[in-house]
This record gives sequence, structure tokens and C-alpha cells, in this order.
Amino acid sequence: MSHRVSTTDDLEVGTYLEIAEAQTSEVSTRHEALVVEARERDAVAVIDFGSQYSQLIARRVREHHVYCELIPHDAPRERIEALKPKGFILSGGPASVYAPDAPLIPQHVLDSKKPILGICYGMQALAYQLGGEVEPGTRREYGPAVIHVTDPPAPIFRGVPDEVSVWMSHGDLVRKLPSGFCSAATSDNSPTAAMWNGDGVFGLQFHPEVVHTSFGSQLIGNFLTGVCGCTGNWTTASFVEQTIDDLRRRVGTGRVICALSGGVDSAVVAVLVHRAIGDQLTCIFVDNGLLRSGEPARVVDTFEQHLGMKLIHVDAADSFLGRLAGVTDPEDKRRIVGDEFIRIFALEARKLGHIDFLAQGTLYPDVIESTSHDTANAATRIKSHHNVALPASLPFQLVEPLRYLFKDEVREVGSALGLPDEIVWRHPFPGPGLSIRVLGEVTEERLETLRAADAIVMDEVRTAGLYRQLWQSFAVLTPMRTVGVMGDFRTYGNVVAVRMVSSQDAMTADWARVPYELLGRISSRVVNEVPDVNRVVYDITSKPPGTIEWE
Ligand code: XMP
Repeated sequence: MSHRVSTTDDLEVGTYLEIAEAQTSEVSTRHEALVVEARERDAVAVIDFGSQYSQLIARRVREHHVYCELIPHDAPRERIEALKPKGFILSGGPASVYAPDAPLIPQHVLDSKKPILGICYGMQALAYQLGGEVEPGTRREYGPAVIHVTDPPAPIFRGVPDEVSVWMSHGDLVRKLPSGFCSAATSDNSPTAAMWNGDGVFGLQFHPEVVHTSFGSQLIGNFLTGVCGCTGNWTTASFVEQTIDDLRRRVGTGRVICALSGGVDSAVVAVLVHRAIGDQLTCIFVDNGLLRSGEPARVVDTFEQHLGMKLIHVDAADSFLGRLAGVTDPEDKRRIVGDEFIRIFALEARKLGHIDFLAQGTLYPDVIESTSHDTANAATRIKSHHNVALPASLPFQLVEPLRYLFKDEVREVGSALGLPDEIVWRHPFPGPGLSIRVLGEVTEERLETLRAADAIVMDEVRTAGLYRQLWQSFAVLTPMRTVGVMGDFRTYGNVVAVRMVSSQDAMTADWARVPYELLGRISSRVVNEVPDVNRVVYDITSKPPGTIEWE
């Protein structure tokens, strides 16, 4: 189903909310997250002391097909117990155990008799709370180091060479071991680079979770399987099966809506929910007129034609462009696109009558950032609302089946569900779309110019086989015009910038060292094929100090 809306289809969100609120007065548990129940799957709890590497620990654990959650050190006991953990990993952190407000390991964790692995600060906290001594090292140890594993090796070092390169990042050291513990490895800086209590409790002064520690993944695997007895039953197939089951029970005969953006997260959510409840799901795709070339048609084709979902395709381009007219400030653009999206989404949802649930593609890193004061990263505030989430005031219960997954896990689930590679591996695309890639005022004409140039960039990157290796690649239409010559004529045309970056998580990024031949082909095609463009430049700025997007 496809139709157009414009600025004249007016409905204030407030009015809508009042109506919908009345409809759903019996719904009292709004925004209750989908609770993934601890059934057969093994789990460990990663207790977070605020290390910059905490998320990495969780990812490394998941790579062994063991479910885990990152839980703040001061979380209530029930929160940890609900996970039914088979063991605990204590993260590193910036504190010193002797600082007045030093975060401590919850006593019930120490009393649990379950395996514990303390990493860096986690090891120091273990030593300190179990009666050992910690003190500042004579020098800060930061970067690569070599450790020597004690013979015979503690179970965590099983199968690992006796000399290992590791990554250190600490100031304090364990000076005296707690009673019952022995050193499990030494380094030049410390006789206790690792410790063990002869049973299930270990401390590592270095970081096994970072790639610079060789055999780091094996150390974590040894702890999970050899010590905790986890069997690695957290698999994509089991996730899909359990999630569909949970969704069926939670939704019952209710009706669900889901906003499709064309990106992988909302696509995977929609397919999971559709598998669970079929036509009780309606997807709404708001085409804001700020998408890449061919994108709206692809979304409709995939979800409506191929996957057979109920899809409302709203052509709202006029409405968005109308509101963006004359606007040049990047933050104003973001706000306008975000507000307009909510207005139109609410308008469409209202037309559907009574709706119980809103399915949303929230991912685990968003959950961690919004719940953990320690790991919240100030850098995300440089630009507003990176994650265009619908406001908490919308009158639906939320279902967020991906809220415990990392992006790479979402992609695996998407593949397992049979989504096309084009969606599964699609580069991240910002919510405000091309409005922040047309620098300055956004007009239909300038969008067309950008779309044409961007399509060439994408085509050439794909042909060169580099699409998956790059984090993002795109064109930017600058507000500059420069002089050129074509044939025997002077031209005065637009400058297009090409941006290609490599990154792990968008927090930092580097400009991609792609072959000159690729840049040459892009430049030549853009100048020849896109009217009014006579110059192409390549952005060689890393993040920081630049950002990935130009606005
Ligand atoms: P920056 O430009 O801050 O971008 O380095 C980091 C990542 O976020 C994306 N981005 C956005 N995503 N709404 C979004 O949904 C936004 O306003 C927004 N701004 C940037 C950007 O594409 C990159 O992946």
C-alpha cells in the first residue's frame, strides 16, 4: 500500500496521543522491554567497572557462543541473578581500589562460589576485597608487554605458550596475594601478572579482550568452557527460535507496528516479528525524500513483494522538503527531520486503529550507553540524536527483540532469516539521510545531483569488491563552485567530496586508503555523468579530529 502525505495532512502528535491514550488505557506496562528469559542457554555476567574495553569483553564472550550481559557494578542483586550466570567476569576500570568511592565487587558475587575472572581493575578489586594488597606501580604500564606463564599452567592458560604478548593498561599492582592464591604469570613489571586460587577464581592484570593480546580469545574461552562449564549454546539458530517464541507469548493476539528505514536493524526486527505473528504486524516505511537512489523502491520490493509483509509506504518527500526549505544549520536539519518523522509516523499509526505494540531495532550498545553512567561516551553528544528513536510518550508497549545483540550478531541473524545481502551488509546510513550530505540548503535539485554522484561512488566501490571492508562510503555535495574546462568551454560547477572510512564502531574512524584507480574512476564518471559537477575531492581526514559525516 502506498500513498503520499504532505505538510497539509496535519495532525499534532499531542492530539494523536490523547486519542490513542484513551484507546489503550488498559495498557499499564508500557515500554517494558522484551525479557529474554534465561532458559537452557548458559550465561555469564560481566560486571562493569567502567573500562573503555567493557563492551569488548562482552563481544569476546559472545564469540564463544556464550550469552552474557554487561551489568553495572552497583546493579541490584536480582538483576544479576535473573541472568542465572554460570560465572562472573569483572571488567577493568579507571578507579584505584584505595580511592574513597572505589567501586567494589558485590559481596553476593564473592560469596556465590561460582567462577570469577577479574581483569585489570577487576583483579585488583578481587585481591583487595579478599585480603591481599594493591599499591601504585613504580611506573604506569600501558601498551604491549610480555608475560611468563607459571608452570604448571593454571586452567585459564591451558594450551597457551609459556611466553605471551599481552596488552597492559594499569597504574596499580597486586603487591600481596590474598590467602589461598598463587601467581599464575609474571611480567617484567610484576611478579603477579595473573593470579589463581587453585579453584575457579582468576585475576589477569592484562586485557585478554583486546586484539593485541595474543591468545586472548583462548584465555576467555578457557574460562568459559573449561572453568565455568559453558557449552556454547548461544547460537543464531537458538536466538531466532527463542525470540520468535518470546514474541508470540508476549504479543498474543495484539497488533504491532514497526518503522522500516531500509537499514539492517529495523529489517531484522520486522522479519523476526513477522515470523512470530504474521499479519498482526504492519510495517510503516516513511520515505522522507532524503534516501539514496533507488532505495525506496528496494525497500518496498523486498518487504512487500518478496517477504509478503503488510507495508504502508508513505511518500512524504514534499512534506520533509517543505519543512527543510531555507534551513542550513545541521542541527536544525536533524531536529526537523526527526520531528517530521514522528509526526508522520504517528499520523499513519492512528489510521490503523488500535495498536498494542511498537517493534523497534534498539541494539545492545544503545542499551549499555543509556543505562551505564560509567561507559556513556561523551563523544556521541557531538551531534544530536544519532539514534532516531521514537519518543517514550507514544502509547504503545515496546518490543525490542535486538536489545541484547551487537551489530555483527544482528547481521548474522539477518542472514539466517534469509534477508538479502544488500540489506544485511548495508553501510550505516544516518537518520537525517541526505539532508546532512547536501551541505547548506537542501533542495530537490541538489538532492538529485548528490544522488547521482553517490550512486556512482556506490557502484564503483561494489565493483572494486570493497563494499564490505569499508565502514561507510558516500558522496557529499559541497556548497562550493569552481571553474573547470570541458571541451573548449569554461564551466563553473559544483564540487563533490567522496568520503570512505574504515571503522569498528564509528566512535573513531580512518579515511580509507583505497586504490588511486578507484578514485580515478569515480572522479571521471562523476564529472562526466553528473550535470553541473566539475570537480571531485577525496576526504583524507580521520575521526577524530573530523567526524564521519560532514555535517
Ligand atoms: P559522525 O558524523 O558523528 O557519525 O562521525 C558517526 C556515525 O553516526 C552516523 N550519524 C548519524 N546517524 N542520525 C543517525 O541516525 C544522525 O543524526 C547522525 N549523524 C551521524 C554517521 O553516518 C556515522 O555512521
